[in-house]
Amino acid sequence: MKRIGLLTSGGDAPGMNAAIRAVVRTAVYHGYEVYGVNRGYAGLLEQDFYPMNSRSVANIIDHGGTILQTSRSDFFPTNAGLHRAAEILKEYEIDVLVVIGGDGSLTGALKLQELGVKIVGIPGTIDNDFGASDYTIGFDTAVSTAIEAISKIRDTTFSHNRINVVQVMGRRCGDIAMYAGLACGAKGMIIPEKDVPLETICGRLVEGRDRGKMHSIIMLAEGCGGYRDYCKKIQELTKVETKGTNLGYIQRGGSPSHFDRNLASNMGYMAVEEIAKGHTGIVIVVRNGKYEAVDLEEALNTPKVFDEEMYEMIQILSI
Ligand code: F6P
Repeated sequence: MKRIGLLTSGGDAPGMNAAIRAVVRTAVYHGYEVYGVNRGYAGLLEQDFYPMNSRSVANIIDHGGTILQTSRSDFFPTNAGLHRAAEILKEYEIDVLVVIGGDGSLTGALKLQELGVKIVGIPGTIDNDFGASDYTIGFDTAVSTAIEAISKIRDTTFSHNRINVVQVMGRRCGDIAMYAGLACGAKGMIIPEKDVPLETICGRLVEGRDRGKMHSIIMLAEGCGGYRDYCKKIQELTKVETKGTNLGYIQRGGSPSHFDRNLASNMGYMAVEEIAKGHTGIVIVVRNGKYEAVDLEEALNTPKVFDEEMYEMIQILSI
């Protein structure tokens, strides 16, 4: 009989619960034990474990957040933290640790693997910044949440003939800004992948105004800075009243979309199926609609490819 440890780490993301449910139920199907680890790596170091069964994951598929809770631990990535974590997993006779989280969390998992811990990763983060997978758990819901909010912002932006800068999450990745911006007809993108001078963006705003486009939404990914400074500069450059909104943590919560529930269910299921085949040191990804298990280290070294075509299309459609 195998014993699986299961934790969520880093920023929570809608759909993590569906992944937890799929891991636990597939494990139960195979006759494995599951130890849930509360509060990510911090909880692991405090040995905050509890046995999970099919009932532990009842009625969570539609819930946002993560029932296992999460954290960002400063001690865990240190040499002492990693060694202690590996020791604890050994003491608890955990055969495989399933980690649901983003790039940082999975990098932590890789370090544990280097100390002999068997790992299976599942990419969960609203940022969609994991290069090896087309989508990460939570991204689709976060985009839908942003779209709902931006539609409301559009109403008032139109009524006042203003420019509105909408700040969304994404430290190193502009995907939330791009996907929500495309869906909401945003006029400009300020994202980490594209170093476009603000003068160029403002030039387009003024040209648009000259053609009769009196209100505009500009998407800003948080990795490029805060919306207040941008509002000030855009107003100076365009002479148009410019307001801003930070959508903030509402993007991280809420009931997951069907896409995220199904993505998470497939990934959670496949994670345990791979364990059943004796495969570890992997992360479950989706590429061109197909679920795959790829080498964890290779996945972490796969750079995220920026969708230039999508970016160009947004410029063309927002004229
Ligand atoms: O990693 C996901 C994310 O939502 C980022 O977009 C954001 O910068 C970060 O988490 C914020 O995390 P915290 O919960 O630590 O404020």
